[in-house]
Amino acid sequence: MNVLGIETSCDETSASIISDGKLIANVVYTQEIHKKYGGVVPEIASQQHLNEIIDVIDSALKKSNLQKKDLNAIAVTYGPGLMGSLLVGLNFAKAMSLSLKIPYIGVNHLEGHLYSNYIDNDNISFPNICLLVSGGHTQVWLVKNYKQFNLIGETTDDAAGEAFDKGARILGLNYPGGPEIDKASKNGNTNFHQFPRPKVKNSPFSFSFSGLKTSLLYYTQNMNKPDLKTNIADIAASYQEAILDCLFKSLENVTIHYPEVYDFYISGGVAANSRLRVKAKSFEKKFNKNIILPKLEYCTDNAAMIAMASYQKLINGQKSDYDLAPIPNLKL
Ligand code: KG4
Ligand code: ZN
Repeated sequence: MNVLGIETSCDETSASIISDGKLIANVVYTQEIHKKYGGVVPEIASQQHLNEIIDVIDSALKKSNLQKKDLNAIAVTYGPGLMGSLLVGLNFAKAMSLSLKIPYIGVNHLEGHLYSNYIDNDNISFPNICLLVSGGHTQVWLVKNYKQFNLIGETTDDAAGEAFDKGARILGLNYPGGPEIDKASKNGNTNFHQFPRPKVKNSPFSFSFSGLKTSLLYYTQNMNKPDLKTNIADIAASYQEAILDCLFKSLENVTIHYPEVYDFYISGGVAANSRLRVKAKSFEKKFNKNIILPKLEYCTDNAAMIAMASYQKLINGQKSDYDLAPIPNLKL
């Protein structure tokens, strides 16, 4: 079975091909244009998806040596995400499905992120924990099997990715802020400044990042530009460390409440963070657990994870109706 995956929920236009459960192509076009606005401009994002989607799909087909007539089904993100961006991918999938006379299925983007850990990985054990850390979400899932996920913790305000993006703006760095702070922190001292590690009362797996971002704002507010520039690596490293400590504290609490869980997956854009990857190694040693991180290209938004999340459903004959509408605030 050859499945075409399509992802256009935010500012990545992506297409993938999965053949008999194996990923054979994944093409991602990142819309760099948003950099100059310091964040994603929804109207521009949907226009860019329209401009790029045909080329991106053609390129995925070419890479997999397949033609449109070889496709058996299409999987597409229908939420959560930006309305205009979602519409482009969803309508494109519907049109292809009608013209090729093959089924299509709408996929929850968050389920896609959970499945990103299963790409190129046949040894999945259950139950496992998945920490989903993206630009819009920070959630801890207890994954019982391929179909059952229980949400056991999430952010009460900003997502971790947002804490990176907003922090970068405060520090005068570019968008997206995660990779910028990651880069700026490279030779920085993580103990240069002690930013708070906010906790959520009675909710050991949950997060709160907005106070942390505000403390960065207050800390830098009275600094003159040259001082900020001189100390940027240390400040960025200290701020990044505080975000990551909050994430790992939640996982530490999971080890206490769910001692039977051994495998901890981390997915979403923030999983690409280089310091997070170093801290994951120490966590594994300290708690005798296994942390699994997707390859970098499957952390940020991609269609490979969308096709992957659809595969079992399509095999079981599931498909979506043509009246399926995008749902910008879709929950899992
Ligand atoms: O999963 P994703 O591509 O899109 C959403 O579904 O939101 O995540 C994007 C988020 C952004 O907030 C971005 O700053 C963050 O992931 N990100 C990173 C890194 N690369 C991307 N955060 C920290 N370190 C990185 N290296
Ligand atoms: Zn995402």
